[in-house]
Amino acid sequence: MNINVAIDGPAGAGKSTIAKRLAAELSYIYVDTGAMYRAMAYYFMKNGIDSTDKEKIDSVCKDIDITITHKNGEQVVLLNGENVNGLIRQEAVGNMASKVSVYPTVRTKLVDLQRQLAKKENVIMDGRDIGTVVLPDAQVKIYLTASSKTRAQRRFDELCAKGLECDIDVIEKDIIERDKQDMNREVSPLRQAEDAVLLDSSNLDIDGVLSEMKRIIDEKI
Ligand code: C5P
Repeated sequence: MNINVAIDGPAGAGKSTIAKRLAAELSYIYVDTGAMYRAMAYYFMKNGIDSTDKEKIDSVCKDIDITITHKNGEQVVLLNGENVNGLIRQEAVGNMASKVSVYPTVRTKLVDLQRQLAKKENVIMDGRDIGTVVLPDAQVKIYLTASSKTRAQRRFDELCAKGLECDIDVIEKDIIERDKQDMNREVSPLRQAEDAVLLDSSNLDIDGVLSEMKRIIDEKI
């Protein structure tokens, strides 16, 4: 049976950085489900579809093909055959993803794809509903969080390192808004699964989180 590790948590908690490193060390496949929601959001933005237009979103979902491949350990998201990895990381796409991920049509499509991937391989999958909905039988479930201040500071440092100008207060406001949206939606809200281990990374660096995660995984499998 394949091993599934589910990592959930709010925006900017460090899930993808950690999951990617863990996957490399354990030789698992890393699945970034947020990138799939971002790719769908990017499609809606590119086609001028408003996030409130549920009817339109429901009807165009069938025209969207999301395919996941991996290259040198990196997940590649193909949107109707086009590699969109470089187009989906902006804050605007993340915010749109948070808005459109409330729709069941969008979620069902991606949850099916996520389950197929987990059936085929040992995966470390990160997102918001992995332990609760996508892979309820995952052998390891971790809920990774950090204070909104810490998460905003990390995002700020990341953007500064890329030479982008930004305002830390605006980043924190966005993060709080995104948490609110993700935690309060009707379908698959972000919450800690009952059998997930809570890990607060506010006072840990990347290596600290990584060794805690490895300890948790070792204990479970
Ligand atoms: O993790 P990331 O910031 O890339 O996710 C973007 C948005 O996609 C989240 O704010 C959330 O609304 C949505 N998402 C989701 N379920 C997941 C992964 C992401 O609803 N499993």
